[in-house]
Amino acid sequence: MKHLLSTADLSKDDAILLLDTSAQMAATQSRENKKLPTLRGRTVVNLFFEDSTRTRLSFETAAKRLSADVINFSAKGSSVSKGESLKDTALTLHAMGADAVVVRHWASGAPQQLAHGGWLDAAVLNAGDGTHMHPTQALLDAFTMRRHLVGLRGGAGEGVGADLAGLKIAIVGDVLHSRVARANVRLLHTLGAQVTLVSPPTLLPVGVETWPCRTAYDLDATLADWQPDAVMMLRVQRERMSGGAGAFFPSTLEYTRYYGLDGRRLGLLPEHAIVMHPGPMNRGLEISAEAADSDRAVIVEQVANGVAVRMAALYLLLAHTEASTEAHTEGTS
Ligand code: CP
Repeated sequence: MKHLLSTADLSKDDAILLLDTSAQMAATQSRENKKLPTLRGRTVVNLFFEDSTRTRLSFETAAKRLSADVINFSAKGSSVSKGESLKDTALTLHAMGADAVVVRHWASGAPQQLAHGGWLDAAVLNAGDGTHMHPTQALLDAFTMRRHLVGLRGGAGEGVGADLAGLKIAIVGDVLHSRVARANVRLLHTLGAQVTLVSPPTLLPVGVETWPCRTAYDLDATLADWQPDAVMMLRVQRERMSGGAGAFFPSTLEYTRYYGLDGRRLGLLPEHAIVMHPGPMNRGLEISAEAADSDRAVIVEQVANGVAVRMAALYLLLAHTEASTEAHTEGTS
């Protein structure tokens, strides 16, 4: 693996290696000295053209815990605001000696362009591009599901090497604008889970029938009859609904009534089911405070798992050689 651009590029073996390495990284995070020497002398650039809290902070934390030098670049306040192109920004990063570039961009495909444009020889990690992909989010979601749910419903059993076979995952809400949904559908399918997307018809993308999942419009029926092991609520992305696209959105009251997760709907889920959300949440719109703060919610744990998953991704792209995982993750600085 040279880059991490899309969950569609990951084989089952790649995905399981990433999850297993994340588990090893998570184990290092419970030690007193959390820092590993693995990426000492390497430079990781966080290149963010769109706002972020969780992804940016956890990539920065992950790189620092691996002892890399970290450069944070935000388009706001940079020469991008003077019209500098992605190519010239990439050439500047190349001149700075970047070994890895973590990129979030409003344009779908920008990370692919950086990886394959011939401007850089760094590893490129997609931190979310437009409505297209968010691979590390899907990996941290799968990691969280595996920790909580594997072993239930015919899963492959706990521990190293486990996939998500037999799990049923409902992904609910604004699928149209969601790179998290696209990334999750691909990865969950690769790992053997079944996915149902539940959404108003106007917030499902054209071509969704070709995705490896089911679709449904009725949230109550999906929760009560299908009995998912996890329900992942998606953020309603009102910032991507400007202009004509705004017409696709039902009223907020209607949306919450038909597609919001609240205390009553929690009661329809099986007892072991977990509640997930990639954040940031619109409390009171797609998820009530009661659901977000309930014992079933693993939303804060998802954020914590994001550090381990991003450590694993950086490690595998920059430092991994066959049979080296154990040695590197056991050392501390
Ligand atoms: N889940 C996620 O990508 O959150 P941020 O936008 O805060 O990074």
